[in-house]
Amino acid sequence: MGEVTENNNSDMSVLQRIATSSVPLLKDYGLNGVVGAVLLAVVIPLLLTSMFGKKTKKRAVQADVGGEAGLAMRNSRFSSLVQVPWEGATTMAALFEMASKKYSQRRCLGTRKLINREFVEPADGRKFEKLHLGEYQWDTYAEAFNRACNFASGLIKMGHKLDSHAAIFSDTRAEWIIAAQGCFRQNLTVVTIYASLGEDALVHSLNETQVSTLICDSKQLKKLPAISSKLQSLRHIIYIEDEPVDAETLNQMNLWTTLSFTEVEELGRTSHIDARLPSSSDTAVIMYTSGSTGLPKGVMITHGNMVATTAAVMTIVPNLGMDDVYLAYLPLAHVFELAAETVMLASGTSIGYGSALTMTDTSNKIKKGTKGDVSVLKPTLMISVPAILDRIRDAVFKKVGEKGGLTKKLFDFAYNRNLAAIEGSWFGSWAPERMIWDNIIFKPIRAMLGGRVRFVLCGGAPLSSDTQRFMNICLGVPVGQGYGLTETCAGAAFSEWDDTSVGRVGPPLPCCYVKLVSWEEGGYTISDSPMPRGEVVVGGYSITKGYYNNDAKTNEVYKVRFYPKSRT
Ligand SMILES: *[C@@H]1O[C@H](CO)[C@@H](O)[C@H](O)[C@H]1NC(C)=O
Ligand SMILES: *[C@@H]1O[C@H](CO)[C@@H](O)[C@H](O)[C@H]1NC(C)=O
Repeated sequence: MGEVTENNNSDMSVLQRIATSSVPLLKDYGLNGVVGAVLLAVVIPLLLTSMFGKKTKKRAVQADVGGEAGLAMRNSRFSSLVQVPWEGATTMAALFEMASKKYSQRRCLGTRKLINREFVEPADGRKFEKLHLGEYQWDTYAEAFNRACNFASGLIKMGHKLDSHAAIFSDTRAEWIIAAQGCFRQNLTVVTIYASLGEDALVHSLNETQVSTLICDSKQLKKLPAISSKLQSLRHIIYIEDEPVDAETLNQMNLWTTLSFTEVEELGRTSHIDARLPSSSDTAVIMYTSGSTGLPKGVMITHGNMVATTAAVMTIVPNLGMDDVYLAYLPLAHVFELAAETVMLASGTSIGYGSALTMTDTSNKIKKGTKGDVSVLKPTLMISVPAILDRIRDAVFKKVGEKGGLTKKLFDFAYNRNLAAIEGSWFGSWAPERMIWDNIIFKPIRAMLGGRVRFVLCGGAPLSSDTQRFMNICLGVPVGQGYGLTETCAGAAFSEWDDTSVGRVGPPLPCCYVKLVSWEEGGYTISDSPMPRGEVVVGGYSITKGYYNNDAKTNEVYKVRFYPKSRT
């Protein structure tokens, strides 16, 4: 691979950074703490077989980028990198505003009605919360956009200063997206904090970014009084009333101006403030993720990064559109979920909110005899992390094992017939036979996830071949695997939906280049056989700006290169 020909164009938009995904970075993206070294060893061969192997050469072409010698690839379905989902959608704010006009009367954000909350206390003295949840209540795209506009005005009216940051610290829910979009409309950077990071990380993140407004749910609100002396930059609290908040908690908030989410929306509705829209290179989100060790680092994600990943992922999901229904339940403070929901908003898809604890009829927090989120929503699209899919697989296998006898025999037989068919054998691939197994054996399993799921996106860690096959057979859906980091705004590589092979992460997303560079200290070189090995380097529109307030780490991980404007 040759040097990049630096063109004379000084336009900053052609200046892109290349993130070197070193071992700790890879670890960053893992949701369940996979050891970095393992990931490096596992993921790289995966990338190699899928991107550099003969089989998929059609889908990734060699590209000539970056200074160092290496094997660089980009997605060959496009003549150049994709940057925006459609013309004009250059920021998250513009994307949502345009989507709200395009799909205005369509269902946008849905939340289940809380009918009843009760506690059961088994004899052992523990106490469990059980929820009786009803139907989804929907905001249309027009309504959701309106709420974001009101929230934006209310936030400023409440006293939030335009030169300071707002943070969101809440479980995944409709208000999260409304608050974030509200902030974007005032060109405010949103700081997000992974809820499981703990108190020290929360204090550190809010202090480092000098957050003046914190938007949180009732669960997080209760934690604030205890750490109030450490939250020196904080001036305003906006709490989401997902649970009743008692007067005592609110009394302890007297250090800050405290309003409920509804009050802020109402304030904005009655006193409009003009939008102050951001540009594509402005920072949309500073995302604090689980660092490998020590304090978490805040990754600065621009509007341009988010829309580029969105544009790329939209090309990956087959027939994505207004008839789709998406179940949202993973943490929005994670780039994977934020990117997925943005893809849904850009496509006119309905987003129904749920949670891991209320997902199925038998989930922990679901009151006996009432319905879980999937049964009510009947989603067509879901995203997941391998750990969750593994759990579903184990649960199904366990249940089949418990039934034993003829049920187990039939299940095993049907499973193996389908497995052979998927892996390309003529054995078991006769369509009428597959239909029979599908209806008798696998339909009840599909019903566990509502019966309509047609595509699952999986990311965060490598998915085992067994689990991928289980999803293909028992749920009858393709599983798309994503590979990326917060630093690459989720995007790097994504498997093609019609690629039935296992253990691959697919070609580069069309918004970026992926390059393999020899990693001498680690003993990996690009001339290794039977396949090249090395360090994965990612470049393109989805590469973030760097770490907030941490030039040393930014310079270590990110390298700035010029890309030639066009290439063949
Ligand atoms: C907040 O940040 C400042 C530096 O900006 C530091 O001196 C101070 O100790 C930090 N406070 C906390 C509670 O972390
Ligand atoms: C958005 O805010 C940032 C930071 O305050 C500022 O540098 C930038 O110029 C603003 N963008 C626009 C389009 O005004």
